[in-house]
Amino acid sequence: MAFTFFFRDTQTLELLAELALPYLKRSMYIRIWDAGCAMGPEPYSLAIILREQMSKFLFRNVRIFATDVDESNFGTIIARGAYPEVELKRIPPEIFAKYFEPDTEPGYWRLTEEIRRAVQFERHDLLSLKPVRNDFGLILCKNVLLHFTPAQRIAVIQMFHAALNDGGFFVTEQTQKLPPETESLFGAVTSAAQIFQKLN
Ligand SMILES: C[S@@+](CC[C@H](N)C(=O)[O-])C[C@H]1O[C@@H](n2cnc3c(N)ncnc32)[C@H](O)[C@@H]1O
Repeated sequence: MAFTFFFRDTQTLELLAELALPYLKRSMYIRIWDAGCAMGPEPYSLAIILREQMSKFLFRNVRIFATDVDESNFGTIIARGAYPEVELKRIPPEIFAKYFEPDTEPGYWRLTEEIRRAVQFERHDLLSLKPVRNDFGLILCKNVLLHFTPAQRIAVIQMFHAALNDGGFFVTEQTQKLPPETESLFGAVTSAAQIFQKLN
């Protein structure tokens, strides 16, 4: 089972929302690819962080395509968007109260419909080098690239570049530097996190 949890690296996700939202809001649909989403805590956390900074009306246009090569990760998440209480302990109490409701299964809590509707799960192998779409405003790929060889990492980052709209954002984890071969593709947006913007 993949290692992930709700509100992991909140600092990056909040900074990302602050820096990318003015750009993302310019498009009718806010299309986001969370590549290597594991069991879903990351795309759902991002959806919640975006919802906190957006009106109900604008949030309806957010579409997060959450993909992973290991479909078994998704389990009942696609069907129910429900998690056992023990996995939800790190969520700030006021956020938990706002975005989770008791599930029909005792000991489980389910994300609200508004948040569930914003995220769709799909099996996808990054090493196919075929993007799920090519009109993204933002691509998030955290704690995945480290599993690849240097050549695979370069090819996947080049694919992300091609899958982004002009000026789109790419985000990875704090410890993942851009390979020199891909540095000309992106500009760093901040020194506080690995958040980049597509250069043409
Ligand atoms: C450590 S988890 C990261 C989850 C989440 N992004 C996070 O940071 O919390 C790594 C995920 O990468 C996925 N993964 C590994 N190789 C992949 C590939 N070739 N294509 C898509 N996903 C892959 C694994 O299945 C796993 O769910």
